[in-house]
Amino acid sequence: MRPHTIIEPFRIKSVEAIQFTTREQRETCLREAGNNVFLLHAEDVLIDLLTDSGTGAMSSAQWGALIQGDESYAGSRSFYRFRDVVSDLTGFTHIIPTHQGRAAERILFHSVLKPGDIVPNNTHFDTTRANIETEAAEAVDVVIAEGRVPSLVHPFKGNMDLDALERLLTERGDRVPLVMVTVTNNSGGGQPVSLENLRGVRALCDRFHKPLFLDACRFAENAWFIKAREAEHAHRTPKEIAQEMFSLADGCTMSAKKDGLANIGGFLAMHDDGWAAAARNLLILTEGFPTYGGLAGYDLEAIARGLEEVVEEPYLYYRIRSTAYLGEKLIASGVPIIQPPGGHAIYIDARALLPHIPPLQYPGIACVNALYLEGGVRGVEIGTVMFGRHPDGTETPAAMDLVRLAIPRRVYTQSHIDYVAEVVAAVGQRRDALRGYRMTNAPEALRHFTATFTALD
Ligand code: F0G
Repeated sequence: MRPHTIIEPFRIKSVEAIQFTTREQRETCLREAGNNVFLLHAEDVLIDLLTDSGTGAMSSAQWGALIQGDESYAGSRSFYRFRDVVSDLTGFTHIIPTHQGRAAERILFHSVLKPGDIVPNNTHFDTTRANIETEAAEAVDVVIAEGRVPSLVHPFKGNMDLDALERLLTERGDRVPLVMVTVTNNSGGGQPVSLENLRGVRALCDRFHKPLFLDACRFAENAWFIKAREAEHAHRTPKEIAQEMFSLADGCTMSAKKDGLANIGGFLAMHDDGWAAAARNLLILTEGFPTYGGLAGYDLEAIARGLEEVVEEPYLYYRIRSTAYLGEKLIASGVPIIQPPGGHAIYIDARALLPHIPPLQYPGIACVNALYLEGGVRGVEIGTVMFGRHPDGTETPAAMDLVRLAIPRRVYTQSHIDYVAEVVAAVGQRRDALRGYRMTNAPEALRHFTATFTALD
């Protein structure tokens, strides 16, 4: 029997107090942060849904593993434990630890891209796009059309548009050194990619002789969706499904801060000897020796254990179900969200919630700031501030203006989530009173982290 109540599949052994603030205090905090919640002090946030990255709770087994960490500079035992777990899961020949996902991206792209190259992906995450554009290459999103319509329900909205990919490879394939697929598709709503679609991408890559890399940050959540939504895989374990996902690829970049259930870490993995040699050379320059890659031995232990725990069925059932629970509550209160709920986050459709705020006045920022002022809940804009600026300095509306409420893994209970739903509903009721923002200061790349804003009247 599956009980109706969501039972967190763990009990709590250590707790951390969270800080209650008044509305007046939050107004001061936000003003001092230039109306950008990235610039708040985290202790002024009650429920922090800024990201699911590195914010999870480690298990007692992971904490226990930390003390086993071997801090040898070269050839540490912890590296071999990490390598064996990653190798069992992914099957890749070369496993290169990095301090987090974007380091894996930077090393991969700097090693293999040249100016004018094109990298297709379902939807590039912002650091992935920035690391490609930094090499003067082009990051192209080829997600299926359904993936761009927030209100549409489709089981695999992260799927690649295979026709568009085929066209791209036919017309400009000579400029494509690799194809990527992000599982789950974070920037498109945490939506999964089906195994059938991944097989389709693989077939195209074979036909055009292109390597396929997964951006595997949330591979286990994606595997769970495949188990739940692709009937032919219902009987398989999440780990078996994940293993097949990796077997269809030639390599991956991974942020262990997500489905590694660790607070820091990542890796780059691949089969190709030449690319791996180039990547290791760069790794030594910027991250560290290839058996630690910028991580402590204890980090490698935590990741190894985390990768074992993340594919456990009770965990994944609870994880995906509790995210959907928040989504259902928001829908019930009339707040538009990306449908169906994603794996790690709920995405409020701020453009639909606030149609009176034009995209270039940042409806996502208006919604994020209102959530903080209302109840100390911190989300993040994924929209025109994050994606609207082009390398040539011009600005256009992003495809969508979303507010992501990302759920840290194993951190908040169902009552925390009930509270979040209450805060969002209250903001939804006052939607007509919300106003847009003007950007007063912005850096050229990844501007959402440090931009400051002024509220419009
Ligand atoms: N790829 C995807 C799909 C991601 O979501 C992230 C990080 C990265 C790559 C980069 O990994 O942070 O370890 O360097 N996403 C975080 C987020 C930051 O909040 O979604 P990283």
